[in-house]
Amino acid sequence: MEPLGVIVLAAGLGKRMRSEQAKVLHLLAGKPLLSRVVSAIQPLQPDRLVVVVGHQADEVQRICGQPGIRFATQRERRGTGDAVRAAQGHFAGFHGDILITCGDTPLLTTETLARFLDGHRTRHATLSVLTVELEDAGQYGRVMRARDRQIVKIVEARDASPEERAVREINTGIYCVNATFLFTALERLHPINAQAEYYLTDIVAQAVTAGLSTQAVLTADPHEVEGVNSREELANMETTRQAQLRRHWMSQGVTLEDPDTVYIGEEVIIGQDTVIGPNTQLKGKTTLGARCRIDGSAYIENCLIGDEAHIQFSCVLRNSELGEATVVGPFAHLRGEVVLAPHAEIGNFVEVKRSFIGEHTKAKHLSYIGDAEIGRNANIGAGTITCNYDGFKKMKTKIGDRVQVGSDTTLIAPITIHDDVYIATATTVRQDVPAGALVFNSRDQQVREGWTAAKRAKEAARKKGE
Ligand code: UD1
Ligand code: CA
Repeated sequence: MEPLGVIVLAAGLGKRMRSEQAKVLHLLAGKPLLSRVVSAIQPLQPDRLVVVVGHQADEVQRICGQPGIRFATQRERRGTGDAVRAAQGHFAGFHGDILITCGDTPLLTTETLARFLDGHRTRHATLSVLTVELEDAGQYGRVMRARDRQIVKIVEARDASPEERAVREINTGIYCVNATFLFTALERLHPINAQAEYYLTDIVAQAVTAGLSTQAVLTADPHEVEGVNSREELANMETTRQAQLRRHWMSQGVTLEDPDTVYIGEEVIIGQDTVIGPNTQLKGKTTLGARCRIDGSAYIENCLIGDEAHIQFSCVLRNSELGEATVVGPFAHLRGEVVLAPHAEIGNFVEVKRSFIGEHTKAKHLSYIGDAEIGRNANIGAGTITCNYDGFKKMKTKIGDRVQVGSDTTLIAPITIHDDVYIATATTVRQDVPAGALVFNSRDQQVREGWTAAKRAKEAARKKGE
């Protein structure tokens, strides 16, 4: 088979986005537009993959991540033709086909690219361009065909006559071109058009004029090849992608009680028979096990959640691991680096940060647990606070297995509470407690009978005297 090269154009700022950030860095379903395009290309296993960068080149290169990608810099933004030319240095001695795509068509799939490439190769074409028909062709380049349906040229919307603008078949910006022809044709481009740019699209007319085999391949799904040029288009595309992701997970056996209100990130994985309530956001690298229940109004980012976990109403969970059959919420906050062992339970108004909570251990009400390591079968009473920070550094609290922490306990770190300790209610624990001990603060209860009535009388007398 002919060697395959790929060029992805990603140097533009994307003026219509009105952003300080390069367009291809903007996110769709939580993944940068360009990373999505690169992910769609990689399964084609190209011999060379070159990304043309310009605006915010460092950041753009960073999000591409994968090894083996080469980068070319386009110094000045002089049009798509000039951008492809910037990549030429990476194709010295290369003979084969070059697939060209833009970094701003994020819904493109590997299947569509593979089919397009296949069609190009079986027809032995010099140039193939992927096209689609739109209800509203907007600012896209129009595909001009002769009476025999053979493609003649592409005309940019800004340069088109009213008759040309009426054409609904548009250029997706995806091409497959013989490398030798491509680089020769680029040298013949002239920036004589409405935008004074070197248009890559002009190579189509060149190929036709030279009598080379040129084809426009019409694809069916307009969403897939749509480009993002404005915030509104990005938002519309997010709507499209969210609908796809929701359909996908429902087809995998996930129940979404009110699908339209559930946001699912691209890298999220959801197990079978998990039920997700309204207003749930699943973001980042979040994995939900099977048979989980999320009651609703949850924000979950980068969490690994085991089978049969139950996230009750209104929780915020970040960068945490929840074992199987754990129960969290309602109104709980796992702030990050939290590990809940299986069957652990975190209840309402409990905040947990950088802590390990052992199996079957419960902290069900109004607590702060930070920098703690808690064993199994322990019970953390209401209003327990780990005082992990002295204003200078963070310190650890260790609590053993089967420890009973009474309500309103203050644990001053660094501190270790060994196994089977019983902490009485309202205790401030300052020193380590040996296994099996009872710990309490010796302050006897004092009672003054009739004190309230006396106090009120005194206050009333004072008010009269004023
Ligand atoms: C381009 C096509 C148009 C097609 C549309 C599909 C041309 C002249 N027009 O128009 O026919 O319908 O894509 O989406 O090619 N880029 C660079 N350097 C540049 C200019 C652009 O790297 O100097 C990159 C951009 O970052 C972007 C891509 O090329 O990823 C497309 O550029 P854009 O300005 O969005 O082109 P369109 O006007 O949409
Ligand atoms: Ca575009």
